[in-house]
Amino acid sequence: MQDTSLPPESAPPTDVAFPKRIKTFVTRAGRTTSGQTRALQVLGPQFVLPYQADKPFDWAQLYGSERTQLPVIFEIGFGMGDASAQIARQQPMSNYLGCEVHEPGVGALLKKIEEFDLSNIRIISHDAVEVLENMIPNNSLTGVHIFFPDPWHKARHHKRRLIQPPLVQLLVSKLKTGGYIHCATDWEPYSKQILTTLQSTSKLVNQSDQVNGFSARPNYRPVTKFERRGLKLGHGVWDLIFKKID
Ligand SMILES: C[S@@+](CC[C@H](N)C(=O)[O-])C[C@H]1O[C@@H](n2cnc3c(N)ncnc32)[C@H](O)[C@@H]1O
Repeated sequence: MQDTSLPPESAPPTDVAFPKRIKTFVTRAGRTTSGQTRALQVLGPQFVLPYQADKPFDWAQLYGSERTQLPVIFEIGFGMGDASAQIARQQPMSNYLGCEVHEPGVGALLKKIEEFDLSNIRIISHDAVEVLENMIPNNSLTGVHIFFPDPWHKARHHKRRLIQPPLVQLLVSKLKTGGYIHCATDWEPYSKQILTTLQSTSKLVNQSDQVNGFSARPNYRPVTKFERRGLKLGHGVWDLIFKKID
C-alpha cells in the first residue's frame, strides 16, 4: 500500500535549517580599546542606530527635518572610519550613514565624531546587505562609498566579494537618479571585476574620462594610512565612479 504520510516532493524538508546566505565578512578578532569601549558606551546611544528589519529609515527623523533636502551618502565597510570622518567633516551639507560590522571600527569612528564634533553622521553596525534590503528606502541615496572592500584573494572565496551583480542592482534601486557609486580598491583583479560588474549594470554610466575606465581619485576621498603605505611600496589603487541615469 502507498505511504500517504510522506510529504510531497516539492515541500521543503522540515529538518534542514534554511541555508544561510554567504556573508561578505567574517567576524574578526580584534581588541576594542578602552577608548573605543568608552565611545561605544557614551556616544553609541546617540549615533549608532539599531538594525530593525521592519523599520525603514526616515531620513528626516535621523538627521532633523531641516536637513531632509540634503544628500544622504551611505558608506559600506568604513573600517576604522578615517575616510568617513574626514568626508563628513568636509561636507557638512551632506548626511552621512556609515555601515560596519567590526566593533573596534565603530568605536574608532565614534571617537572621531567626538573629536571633530560631527553632527551629520550616523552609524549602523550590521550586515550592509541586509541594511540595504530592509532599511534603506528606494531612490533615496545620493551616493554610495565602498572603499577598499575585502578582496577575498583566494578563488574559493570570491563568492564572498561584496561587489557582485545582485548587490549592485540593489544599490541602483536605492540610488536617486543622478546618484553615484564610488568604489576604490588596491587589488587589480578585483578592480577589473568591479569595472565589468558596474559597466554591465543597466542604468549605470561610467564617469571615467580615461580609456581604461577607471577614475582619478576625487579630492573628497582622502588617502588613508594603509593606502599610503601601499602606494609607497608601488601598489596601485583603482577608483571607479558610476552615476545612475533614468
Ligand atoms: C578591507 S576593510 C576596508 C575598510 C575601510 N573602508 C578602509 O578603506 O580602510 C573592509 C571592511 O568592510 C567591512 N565589511 C565587509 N562586508 C561588510 C558588510 N556586508 N556589512 C558591513 N561591513 C562590511 C569589514 O568588516 C571591513 O572592516
